[in-house]
Amino acid sequence: MPSVRRSQTPSDLPVWYNPLSPLGSAVHYVASLSPKFNWVGIYVLKGKFLELGPFIGAPSEHQRIAVGKGVCGTAVAENTDQNVADVRARDNYLACSLETRSELVVLIRDGQLPDSKILGQIDIDSHVANAFGPAEEESVRKVANELGALWHA
Ligand code: SME
Repeated sequence: MPSVRRSQTPSDLPVWYNPLSPLGSAVHYVASLSPKFNWVGIYVLKGKFLELGPFIGAPSEHQRIAVGKGVCGTAVAENTDQNVADVRARDNYLACSLETRSELVVLIRDGQLPDSKILGQIDIDSHVANAFGPAEEESVRKVANELGALWHA
């Protein structure tokens, strides 16, 4: 009888997951979590650059961001999520839309340890200042963890 690994059973998969479009389905799901999430995208880390993958919202001129630049690149350089309550207070902010007031960047890692390899990040912009509280951070972190676990699946 063919064996099915437990990790492959549908019940183990996140509700949002579409194997035909893992990143796209994650972006759609995250965008559905709150009306305050006005732009949601996934940047994939390739060497020393973040490259924009699927996104929902206005087109961004920041298709490629160097590690260390902007809020997104800082997250990778400092190996830590970024919750920017007011983007106007950050001098390294790279504007995507003039309407954006706050931004959340949650790293996607290939494990749950703080030093697990960074694969990319979920980036969310809001037109509302201070849009991201503990509940928002937690729900996006959950998706980032699930995506990290499925990344090489
Ligand atoms: N604001 C980001 C750039 C990406 S756009 O928001 C889509 C940054 O400062 O890195």
